[in-house]
Amino acid sequence: MKAERVRLAVLVSGRGSNMAALLYAAKDDDCPFEIALVAGNKPKAAGFDLAEAEHIPTARLDGKDPTFWDQLDQTLERHGADAIACAGFMRIIPDDFLDRWKGRIYNIHPSLLPAYKGTDVHQRVLAAGDTVSGASVHHVTSELDAGEVLGAIEVAVLPDDTPDTLAARVLLAEHQLYPRVLRDHFARFSDAAWIERQIEARALSLPETTAKTSHGAPAWRVGPKSSGKFFAILWNRHHGEDHVAVLVKTSGQDEMAALIDADPDLYFRPAYYGPSDWIGLRVDSPRTDWDHVDHWLRKSWSICAPARLTKLQRAADAF
Ligand code: GRF
Repeated sequence: MKAERVRLAVLVSGRGSNMAALLYAAKDDDCPFEIALVAGNKPKAAGFDLAEAEHIPTARLDGKDPTFWDQLDQTLERHGADAIACAGFMRIIPDDFLDRWKGRIYNIHPSLLPAYKGTDVHQRVLAAGDTVSGASVHHVTSELDAGEVLGAIEVAVLPDDTPDTLAARVLLAEHQLYPRVLRDHFARFSDAAWIERQIEARALSLPETTAKTSHGAPAWRVGPKSSGKFFAILWNRHHGEDHVAVLVKTSGQDEMAALIDADPDLYFRPAYYGPSDWIGLRVDSPRTDWDHVDHWLRKSWSICAPARLTKLQRAADAF
């Protein structure tokens, strides 16, 4: 089975050429994202016309409406958006909206960040006499154009450039950069090596843990090196299963049955392990909640750890 594609919503305020670059990149079957929605604050933005012609759902919202952010949030939920790409979206995103979409909003900015945040970038680049400019893709945080940079591309400044000619050339480079960076970024959600690193970092942050393979699968133990107990095992599309998952210990069959019943998309019974207390927790979805995975690793650790360690941990947690 193919990996689940990230459902990307694109926010525009104007012509939407970066939106178009993302839209055409997503037509590639191997692209790890699909465009679920194009939304924005200017109902007449040209970007919407193209999106509609390409049969992408649009939400032409009115940025002046006081309920704009709530409407946007509801529209994103309704279209099952996993992440948001701003593409010439000219609104500062309020903190409560950012909180709800934490870590899942991206932007492209026409400079080599952290240089030239904000507006009038090309004028400022030329006034400074720079010979190189460029564009950057970054996480959106509450500080303008200051979130982590995921990728950048350099663009030469020509001696006779005007702000317009430089902007046009940077835009060509943006169209290469944005889809490429988001492809790489989203591909990791189904990349077993990336997933293993996420689990390993969390598992080994717990007291007295070591990495050791179990039947060839990456796994983690707690307790003395020679006699430790496995508390987490990476399940990489084993035995015909489609998913990458982590196996963790439950308190028993009743808890396991209740969890699988309540959320069969997230939990499963790992057939290969027979009637044991191991439960499978899928971790290769764009919606994987890594805090929740962390919670399970801790829980499994405390089920498997020797009493002397859990006592210490309980004392530390009580602090
Ligand atoms: C681009 O230059 C982008 O870097 C900036 O706004 C412009 C949007 O252009 N954030 P378009 O609407 O994508 O054509």
